[in-house]
Amino acid sequence: MNERPSDRPGVSSGDVSSDDAAASDGAGVAGARVSPSGRPSDPVAPLPSLEVLLGRDQISAKVAELGRRIADDYDGKPLVLLCVLKGSFIFAADLARCIPLPLRVEFLGVKSYGNDSASSGAVQITQDLTRPIENDHVLLVEDIIDTGLTAHFLLELVSARRPKSVRLCSLLHKPSRQEKSVFIDYLGFTIDDYFVVGYGLDYAQTYRNLPDICILPPSLINDE
Ligand code: IMP
Repeated sequence: MNERPSDRPGVSSGDVSSDDAAASDGAGVAGARVSPSGRPSDPVAPLPSLEVLLGRDQISAKVAELGRRIADDYDGKPLVLLCVLKGSFIFAADLARCIPLPLRVEFLGVKSYGNDSASSGAVQITQDLTRPIENDHVLLVEDIIDTGLTAHFLLELVSARRPKSVRLCSLLHKPSRQEKSVFIDYLGFTIDDYFVVGYGLDYAQTYRNLPDICILPPSLINDE
């Protein structure tokens, strides 16, 4: 497909310095590629073919760029990377390896009430931090800011634990659905109102293992 973020309808880069993001091959989401051995090269071959919105190369270039910006901004200071489970587990794992700082990783498990493709904004904590974050610089890592309700809730929850600072990093932002305004300090991509899956994002707990971020068509969404 060889498109850059700004070339693909429905996607724009999270900040101005991303024009050098690598092009995406946009292929290989659902068993389309076969290795020279004749075996499928994609481990998620049984999943249906989905349109790629953001390819793996484009994502990895953006994650590296975010990591450089974060490292520059924190300038050698120790940082707590707070990965919001489950959706940001792949993003946080890749991002952590792009931040050359003394880094601690913590996990916060959350479950949004609502159906499988829309959050109600009511958030349940399913797994809390294992260590205090008081007096630490904390970076909350989210997969996507959609209505903004979850991030807003989590920023308040984290702030109440008296960190030295708290900032928000999100790979994706869907501004068209915003209900609560949250400031995203580090943003990967702004996307149109698609339901997307892959690279950690799910629909009904499926598709998280897709290496690209793909559009889930309404025909595959079955919300009650
Ligand atoms: P909120 O609407 O900003 O509160 O987002 C809540 C959560 O809904 C996000 O952290 C995601 O886990 C999930 N979510 C929102 N939009 C999508 C999507 O397009 N694909 C997959 N998950 C999504």
